[in-house]
Amino acid sequence: LRQLCGTNLPAGGGPAGLALQRRQTVVFRDLTREPPRPGLPADPRLRSAIAIPAVGGNGRVLAIAEFFSDRQLPEEGLVSTLTSLAGRIAQYIERMGAEAETQRMKDEFVSTVSHELRTPLSSMTGWLHILLGGEPGPLTSEQRQFLTTIKRNSDRLMRQVGDLLLAGQIESGRLSLELAEVDVAELAQEAADLVAPQAEAQKVAITVAAGQPAVVNGDRARLLQLLDNLLTNAIKFTPDGGQVRLSVTAGGGRCEVTVSDTGIGVPPQDRPHLFERFYRASSATEHRITGTGLGLAICRAIAEGHHGTIRLAEREGPGSVFVVELPLAAREEKAI
Ligand SMILES: Nc1ncnc2c1ncn2[C@@H]1O[C@H](COP(=O)(O)OP(=O)(O)OP(=O)(O)O)[C@@H](O)[C@H]1O
Ligand SMILES: [Mg+2]
Repeated sequence: LRQLCGTNLPAGGGPAGLALQRRQTVVFRDLTREPPRPGLPADPRLRSAIAIPAVGGNGRVLAIAEFFSDRQLPEEGLVSTLTSLAGRIAQYIERMGAEAETQRMKDEFVSTVSHELRTPLSSMTGWLHILLGGEPGPLTSEQRQFLTTIKRNSDRLMRQVGDLLLAGQIESGRLSLELAEVDVAELAQEAADLVAPQAEAQKVAITVAAGQPAVVNGDRARLLQLLDNLLTNAIKFTPDGGQVRLSVTAGGGRCEVTVSDTGIGVPPQDRPHLFERFYRASSATEHRITGTGLGLAICRAIAEGHHGTIRLAEREGPGSVFVVELPLAAREEKAI
């Protein structure tokens, strides 16, 4: 089956070319008398041919199925079955095209809205920062408490808007990375420090094991975002009193980052979809843990953008283990 995506099938040449030109099924009954392709010598093993176009609603040929046979003349019944099948294929191709267009419009809409939201949000967080800094005047403890709550929520909204924009960029292949030498071991410590208040609030203990440097050629901010997303998840999906462990090792030209937790885990049926955009496991909704389902899709794009991988490892007992592998920078590779 040839799908006509910019192929330059010559209209009128051979069975498929003729079917394209005539927009109807073409049968070559005796190829020994008519060559299957103009200018090509007839293959003595081929006796007959049939080409069936899949014609869309607007009369455009969307695909052509072309068969050659060593037997004489395809039966009439077969010709009409294949022709009606081609009609179904045309409908399918048109439906897929319409779905892709709807998806494109949705992505464009989300991207425009996110951009529009970011400007007023930046202004709000800016003024909040000034108010909390005490510059316009001293705050009562109650005022400070209220403003802190507003700040926490506007930061959260800002993060979500950022995630939506980034997800849009990833979807359209526009994720850009600013590469430099980055020590992932050092970055791991920084990421753990960033999420420490959240872990403390949820009574989850974090340990970091990142003794040796693990230098990769990467985008520092994006790699920090990857670690932050994994740690935020680990803390979020781990009940009070649980533990989160972040480890970084380097060897064999690769850097391996592992984030493990003693939390609610991921049910087997959700595992294959976890890195898809907006996918949330049933365990997350059952436990009423909020989120958009973008974090892991972003993690995967960042890991793959660095020629690395990310996966959910199998684990004995409760909890989850996420493993990221990245190639070490060439300098580091030689040292090992
Ligand atoms: N450490 C974890 N333990 C258990 N489930 C997890 C863990 N990390 C991710 N998941 C599951 O994978 C889903 C997708 O994760 P992802 O980070 O993409 O989304 P989210 O955390 O729900 O929302 P967002 O990151 O956009 O705020 C989660 O909803 C959850 O079901
Ligand atoms: Mg998340």
